Amino acid sequence: MAALTGADRILAETLPAIAREVDAMFDALLPAEGKLAKAMRHAAIGGGKRLRPLLLTATATMHGADRTNALRAAIAIEAIHAYSLVHDDLPCMDDDAMRHGKPSTHTAFGYAEAVLAGDALQSFAFEVLADPATSGDPFVRAELVLVLASAAGAQGMVGGQMLDIDGEGQALDLPAVTRMQQLKTGALLSAAVEMGAVLGKLPPEGRMHLRGYARDIGLAFQIADDLLDHAGDEAKAGKALRKDAAAGKQTFVGLLGEGRAREQARMLVDQALAYLNSYGQEADLLRAVARYIVERDR
Ligand code: IPE
Ligand code: IPE
Ligand code: MG
Ligand code: MG
Ligand code: MG
Repeated sequence: MAALTGADRILAETLPAIAREVDAMFDALLPAEGKLAKAMRHAAIGGGKRLRPLLLTATATMHGADRTNALRAAIAIEAIHAYSLVHDDLPCMDDDAMRHGKPSTHTAFGYAEAVLAGDALQSFAFEVLADPATSGDPFVRAELVLVLASAAGAQGMVGGQMLDIDGEGQALDLPAVTRMQQLKTGALLSAAVEMGAVLGKLPPEGRMHLRGYARDIGLAFQIADDLLDHAGDEAKAGKALRKDAAAGKQTFVGLLGEGRAREQARMLVDQALAYLNSYGQEADLLRAVARYIVERDR
């Protein structure tokens, strides 16, 4: 086996560790009884790379925040992500029967149940954030709620999903696709970093480099997702691939072709890394995540 690079070594331990922590906290905090609880648990527990929790906790602890507080905020953003995937997979959206290597939530529980599980995961996220256990400082809690709500809603993920659905079969240009991807995927990834900075009590004027980093990895992340759809391995990805082109989805791969899309993603990662130049070793995990985002096979 080839020797692990620094980035690989960091993530080889950190990715499974954060996945275990996220699963355990969802298990402890999500409702336990009844059909709705089962559907929520199916969507939230046991699957996913947990990149948003990793970005949030890495940024928070790098700035001296309490790790348990950071994990609670991480659970909140991952609940929004899980809900977005439940709804994204519905027949009226992307119509996907597999997610995280298992039946998608509507396939396992029914359409109405999946809609409701997504709704309830969204409420759960804000309930967790607003709870004093997430931060003793009410200003921090309010800012966390604000950052997550704006990244999730019409100006963020949901707005981007609308553009994605509206764009099917259209011929969007590069700026339009960039905007769509930044909203549907970039907004939540940026929120993960921003929430880490909020917990670390970094003043807004001290967040500029982190915001640049987050914006660039967010875009690179969606290009990588589109490249996986184009050329990835379904068993590793745990979801159906090679669907975007047939569905008329507007993607960087469709616009630029595979080679240039790959180049663009790498360039964005280099740009993201440059934003971290003012940090020392404490940012190595964020650096590793940036590289992983374009090298990943799932
Ligand atoms: C998939 O996100 C959906 C997009 C926003 C592109 P992830 O790749 O982060 O999903 P997980 O890791 O399976 O949860
Ligand atoms: C989903 O993007 C983005 C979300 C906000 C959920 P995709 O539709 O490309 O994600 P996958 O490929 O189904 O994971
Ligand atoms: Mg979609
Ligand atoms: Mg989809
Ligand atoms: Mg995709």
